[in-house]
Amino acid sequence: PRVIYIDAQGGEFEADVEVGQNLMEGAVDHMIDGILGECGGVMSCATCHCYVDKAWVNKIPPASEMEEDMLDMVIEPQDNSRLSCQIDMTEELDGIVVRLPKSQF
Ligand code: FES
Repeated sequence: PRVIYIDAQGGEFEADVEVGQNLMEGAVDHMIDGILGECGGVMSCATCHCYVDKAWVNKIPPASEMEEDMLDMVIEPQDNSRLSCQIDMTEELDGIVVRLPKSQF
């Protein structure tokens, strides 16, 4: 299934992300700038912050309490902020759009 990553400058990158991979891994594997994923997906870095397109927000499971706590620490949080390492790819998410913040720090 495809993920559309849109960077802060509006550049669009389409990546094929396997079911079972998460959106942080998908971005890192495709060398998409803007998602770092420094902790490898164990929710301790928050450098995988992204904004889930409003049309998709309700199609993914809500953030856990721990994820919410991490999201308090990102630069410019919004109500559609998520950690991309916590979004697992599924067939249903084919075409999901996520936007990348200007900076992860
Ligand atoms: Fe570190 Fe997501 S990769 S919190």
